[in-house]
This record gives sequence, C-alpha cells and structure tokens, in this order.
Amino acid sequence: MSLRVGVIGTGMIGRDHIRRLTTVLSGVSVVAVADVDSSVASEVAATVGAAVLPGERLIEDPGVEAVLVCSWGGTHEEYVLAAIAAGKPVFCEKPLATSPSACLRIVSAEVGFGARLVQVGYMRRYDAAYQALKDTLDRGVIGAPLMMHCAHRNAGVPAFYQADDMINDTAVHEVDMSRWMFGAEVVAVRVLCPRASGNAGGLPDPMLLILELSTGVLVDVEISVNARYGYDIRGEILGENGTAALGDPGLVVLRRQGGLTRPIPADWRLRFGPAYDAELRDWVSAVRSGSPPSGPSAWDGYAASAVSAAAREALSTGRRVEVRLTSPRPPLYDAH
Ligand SMILES: NC(=O)c1ccc[n+]([C@@H]2O[C@H](COP(=O)([O-])OP(=O)(O)OC[C@H]3O[C@@H](n4cnc5c(N)ncnc54)[C@H](O)[C@@H]3O)[C@@H](O)[C@H]2O)c1
Repeated sequence: MSLRVGVIGTGMIGRDHIRRLTTVLSGVSVVAVADVDSSVASEVAATVGAAVLPGERLIEDPGVEAVLVCSWGGTHEEYVLAAIAAGKPVFCEKPLATSPSACLRIVSAEVGFGARLVQVGYMRRYDAAYQALKDTLDRGVIGAPLMMHCAHRNAGVPAFYQADDMINDTAVHEVDMSRWMFGAEVVAVRVLCPRASGNAGGLPDPMLLILELSTGVLVDVEISVNARYGYDIRGEILGENGTAALGDPGLVVLRRQGGLTRPIPADWRLRFGPAYDAELRDWVSAVRSGSPPSGPSAWDGYAASAVSAAAREALSTGRRVEVRLTSPRPPLYDAH
C-alpha cells in the first residue's frame, strides 16, 4: 500500500517535491494538494490526480496519512502545529518557522505529543559531497578541525528577496550544515559586509558570517546572491593535519577550443537534486515503517532559527551576538 501524502504549497519546491514523490520515489502517492493560489493548486493536482483542499482540511482529511509543507516560511508554524495535533508525520521545508519562539512552540507541541513527527528540509545532510566530507572528518583523516570556509553563491534572486533573506533563507543552510558537520552548537555570530557589489540591487551583497562553534571551531560563510555566473556551493575544512574540501558535484570536464571548463549548476535544483531525492526517500521510508524520522528534527529547526535571529541582530548592530538556546534540550531529541 502506498503512503498517501498531502502537499501544502505548490510553488517552485512544492512542485519539484511532487514530481519527486510521484516519479522518482516508489511507495508513495500524492492524494491532495493545497495552495492559496487555487489555480496553481488545480493545475498541479490535475497532473497527479490529487484533490485540491484548503491547507487545514488537507491535514485533517482521513485519506492523507502524512503532510509536506512547502508554502512560504511565515505559514509553516500553523500547518506544522495542525499536523502534530492530528498526529500526522510532517515534512516541513526550511525554515521550520520564522522566529525561534515559533519554532519552540512546535518543539513543545511535539514533546507534548510524545514522539517525533517533524522533519525539516535541510537537505545538505543528504548530499553525497557533504557526507563524504563529514566521513573524512569523522575518520580523523585531517586531524581535529579548526576552521571551515564556506561560500554560498546564487546567480541571482527574485525582486522580493530582502537583506534578512540572505540570513533566513540562504545562510541558514550553512548554519544547519555546520551544526551537523561538527556535532556542535553555534554559540556566537558576527556579520561583516564589504562594499556592495554593483549587481546587489540594494542588498548588503556579498555578506560574510562568522559562526563560533561550542568546540572552538570557526566557520566563515560568504553569501553572495547576485554572483551571476551560476549556483556555486563551496566548503573547505582546515584540520590540524590537512584540509578536506567538497568535490565538484560529478560534472563533466570539457577540454576544447584551447580551454578547460567544468559546467556550474544554474540553480539549487541542479546542484542538490539527488540530495532532495535522498531526504524524501528517507522520510517516506521512516513514515511507512512507523519509525521516527532520522533527518533534521524540530529541535534542529529551532537551533538554526536561533542562529538566524542572532545573525540578523549582528547584521543590524554590527556587533558579535551570542546565541542562547533554551535548555535543557528535551530528551525526545537526545538520540538525534
Ligand atoms: N530546501 C531548500 O533548498 C529549499 C529550496 C527552495 C525553497 N525552499 C523553501 O520552501 C518554501 C517554499 O519556497 P518556494 O521557492 O517553493 O516558494 P514559492 O513562492 O515558489 O511557492 C510557495 C507557494 O506557497 C503558496 N502559499 C503561500 N501561503 C500559503 C498558505 N497559507 N497556504 C497554502 N499555500 C500557500 C504560494 O501561493 C506559492 O504557490 C520556503 O520556505 C523556502 O524557503 C527550500
């Protein structure tokens, strides 16, 4: 029997996940979709034979066994809370919610339910290059880590994208990755901005975040969202005995016309396609077997949100801002 999933939000990533669920993965079907733009929802529903329902009704519908939330970040909290209240597993695209307090309300609802129902869409943990980097680090190949240098470059961003989005929507991937890679919390953040690029369109672009981890490791993250040349994600760890860097993501190397070139992905769908496949395969498999999800938890969503809030303050004040997570971490998240 296939797992019957409902998808809320049929925009860019919602549609991509529906395609993935219905054509890449097996053992799952999309039975209902919701979007405030009903024409978009109807168009997408027709391609997979799903019903169109309002978001709240979709969650309550007895024919929907599990929910994917792919709507705008500001709407995630209400849908995730409703899914927990209905006792249904919910995969929520990042960010879990738009403030640490909203994320904590989700954590506390899940703790009240007594079992993990929530997985957050931090897909880098499923990317082959990041996994190989973590494996190299964990095997001690380069010795104890000291620093990591990251770059997150987008070719461009839509007109509605704001300065805070450089932190909340973009750098937040490196925040989650750093916590996972080093098994440590971010304890303080600084944000520095050089002169803005001529392509910046009013954004403080590029931007440099410096994350201090609880283990003393420093992670610097260049965010550049109008890089023009492509979608380029980089990471290199400096250890005591060597360095390890993300490899190129399996692309062709071209030698022709007197030059040597490697294509650069145009956007995140091309770069992280296999990671999105793997995260949803893992989620579907956990839900079908009745196990808690093993991917990023509501607590991880909260921790990333707390770092984002500190980084927003660091951007506006120019100061180093400490990150203080509420403690203790609920035991529900201990094995994670
Ligand atoms: N993991 C990743 O790498 C990744 C990549 C892209 C987007 N995202 C996240 O996915 C989410 C959606 O991003 P997107 O790029 O698809 O945006 P989008 O604007 O293309 O799509 C969002 C859709 O949600 C719908 N929507 C808005 N409010 C709603 C509500 N209350 N109920 C139902 N539908 C509603 C909109 O009408 C729109 O169709 C965001 O949180 C974004 O940060 C994650």
